[in-house]
Amino acid sequence: MTVKEKILDIFEGNKGEFLSGGELAAKLNVSRNAVWKAVRQLEEEGYCFDSVSGRGYRLREESDVLSVHGIKKYLGSTGDRFDLRVYKSITSTNTVLKEMAAAGAPEFTVLVACEQTAGRGRMNRKFYSPTSTGLYLSILLRPHVMAQEALFITTAAAVAVARAVEEISGRQAGIKWVNDVFVDGRKICGILTEATYDMESGTLEYAVAGIGVNICDPTDGFPDEIKDIAGSVFGRQMPPADMRNRIAAGIISYFTQWYDNLPQHPFFDEYVRRSIVVGKDILVLGKEKPRPAKALSIDYNCNLHVRYYDGGEEILSSGEISVKLMDYSI
Ligand code: BTN
Repeated sequence: MTVKEKILDIFEGNKGEFLSGGELAAKLNVSRNAVWKAVRQLEEEGYCFDSVSGRGYRLREESDVLSVHGIKKYLGSTGDRFDLRVYKSITSTNTVLKEMAAAGAPEFTVLVACEQTAGRGRMNRKFYSPTSTGLYLSILLRPHVMAQEALFITTAAAVAVARAVEEISGRQAGIKWVNDVFVDGRKICGILTEATYDMESGTLEYAVAGIGVNICDPTDGFPDEIKDIAGSVFGRQMPPADMRNRIAAGIISYFTQWYDNLPQHPFFDEYVRRSIVVGKDILVLGKEKPRPAKALSIDYNCNLHVRYYDGGEEILSSGEISVKLMDYSI
């Protein structure tokens, strides 16, 4: 750990309390000037300190900075497995990580950003990624599985998000087939998995699992195109301290635990249990015009079985198909 990291660790453990520069310097066996420099660097990274002469520095309770240290704190010893990088702003964590993957970056390189200027969604859509109110992360994987199993990466990610959000925020999270996470009837998370595969063996070369979570509503609200659909974990409420770091760590940790056993997909039962689609009336949106149907079940390959109102049943695999719930505006 660097001096800055050690100092941050001490402040994080004593949030809201004054710590004197002299005591910190003595504890870490560094100069007072080194402590001052570290505090300045942390301020530049967005941490908020009060400094009062004679009392020292205090890390404010509301300090909520997304950082490598902040995420690793909640990952415990498994944190060493990841090459974690946090950006204030990036074009798209998926785009940058794909470039890194092509240049040979190792599995479990994880990019996390406070803002994306060119966030991308499924079906070539944009993904609105404003600063500080969301969490945007991508994980590089090099799985030894056939290309068709890539879908399990996406579904594992959806369950990881739903479980982490629910445990950490206390809000119930459901999954809209195939991989959108919903809280209170609104989409709070989208997932975009992009992969390249070896044509000869049919196995994946690498996959980038990209996850975007809206933690609270953007100050100016969501843009018109998505305002009827999009929501966030905490809505207009101020999230409790350290939410983005905690949720990021929760997602990474659940996801990798399941990823280690991908062919068995141990998350499958939870994926089905969290479905907000099964048993509902839906519109199937594909290449033809929307067709009303009843969603019957999800099978072990995460395909959706539907019965159309105008007759016939079909097994839908994700690809170009998406569904809209009839009793929601989504
Ligand atoms: C969707 O809902 O259509 C999927 C959205 C996926 C967004 C995430 S945010 C992190 C990663 N980087 C991107 O550019 N996209 C994914």
